[in-house]
This record gives sequence, structure tokens and C-alpha cells, in this order.
Amino acid sequence: MKFAERRITLKDGRTCILRPNGPEYAEEMIAYMEKTAGETEFLLRYPDEVSYTVEKERELLENILEDPYHIMMVAVVDGKPAGNGSVSGIGTKRKIRHRCSLAIALYEEYWGLGIGSAMIDYLSELAAGIGWTQLDLEVVAENERAQALYKKCGFVESGRRHNALLFDDGTYHDEILMYRDLT
Ligand SMILES: CC(C)(COP(=O)(O)OP(=O)(O)OC[C@H]1O[C@@H](n2cnc3c(N)ncnc32)[C@H](O)[C@@H]1OP(=O)(O)O)[C@@H](O)C(=O)NCCC(=O)NCCS
Repeated sequence: MKFAERRITLKDGRTCILRPNGPEYAEEMIAYMEKTAGETEFLLRYPDEVSYTVEKERELLENILEDPYHIMMVAVVDGKPAGNGSVSGIGTKRKIRHRCSLAIALYEEYWGLGIGSAMIDYLSELAAGIGWTQLDLEVVAENERAQALYKKCGFVESGRRHNALLFDDGTYHDEILMYRDLT
């Protein structure tokens, strides 16, 4: 969906713009998915699992931009994407349509500057505006940085999914379930 740009000042004094992610970022988003997947083990995909073509990615971003129930936010620093965050509905059935789900990842060089907190606050504000009342997420149990950020942003732990992930090295990892009340 489309929404207004927001400017924030980072801990290092630079300006970051939070804006809708659209088709103009297609090429950069493919590079972003590949690089971030290699910088942390805490994302769902491995770099070799990024198989989008630029055309397909452009079409996807265009559709998301026109979808009033899908928020895709890019953080731009010095004119370049530093990371991406998204919120989408869990489903359209009446029993679950009050819930939405959050995903976020930044390039490693932009960690710890306050972008994550600002993105989550803005995404939550937009999600509440759409009418969702609960924001859910899953985070790998060992991902302490992300969990610290989510707790700071008002998320509460609500459960644990046993052996949710199987890494290429043969190790299993649990996921922690968290939610934020948007009412
Ligand atoms: C998780 C992520 C989005 C956080 O974004 P960020 O911009 O670095 O977060 P912020 O700078 O806004 O805040 C980070 C908070 O984490 C905490 N933190 C920072 N470094 C930490 C560390 N090494 N260990 C634990 N907590 C840490 C602090 O509480 C900090 O808040 P503070 O600045 O008020 O002290 C980012 O690190 C990232 O993209 N990681 C890789 C992908 C990922 O793990 N995504 C989440 C998947 S569920």
C-alpha cells in the first residue's frame, strides 16, 4: 500500500527515509535478499534460494503497492536501501482477519542505528490504521538482538515452536512466537 514518507535521524546523525517499497527497487531488492540471507542465519531463506527475476520482483512490488492490506517499507540511507520491513494479513477468514504478521531485515552495516525500532513503530501505526488489532511474529530462539528489539517495541512472548527450522548444518532451532497488541 501507499503511505507517507517518514524521515528519522539515526544514531550516527544520518537521515533515514522510511517509504513504500515499490517497483523502482526491484533490482536492489533481489541483491538485498541474497546479501541479507548470507549475513545472518536468522532469516528463512538461504542466498541460493533467492530465485526472483527482476521482472517478477517488479511485478510483485507493484502489486503490493496497490494492495491496501500489504505494507512493504524500505528504509533508505544516503539514497540506498538499508533494509526492508513488511506487514501482511494472516488471512481473510473472519476468525483470523484481526491478525497480521511482521517481517524485517536490514543489511548488517545498518544494524544498531535505530532503524529497526523506527520501522516497527511506523509499521505498527500503519497496521493499526488498517484495522488489524494484533501484530504477530516468529523469531529464531537464538536471535537475541531481534528479541531485544521486539520487547523494546512492546511485543510479548506467547509461545515456542519446537524444531521449527532445520539448518543446512543439520541443527534444529526453535522459534519464539511473539505478539504486539495494536488496540
Ligand atoms: C533485528 C534487526 C531488524 C534490528 O534492527 P536494528 O536497527 O539493528 O535495531 P535498533 O538499532 O532499532 O535496536 C536494536 C535494539 O536491540 C538491542 N541490541 C542491540 N545490540 C544487541 C545485541 N548484540 N544483543 C542483544 N540486543 C542488542 C538493543 O536493545 C537495541 O535497542 P537500543 O538501541 O534502544 O539499546 C536487525 O539487526 C537485522 O536486520 N538483523 C538481521 C535480520 C533479522 O534477524 N531479522 C529479524 C528476523 S525475526
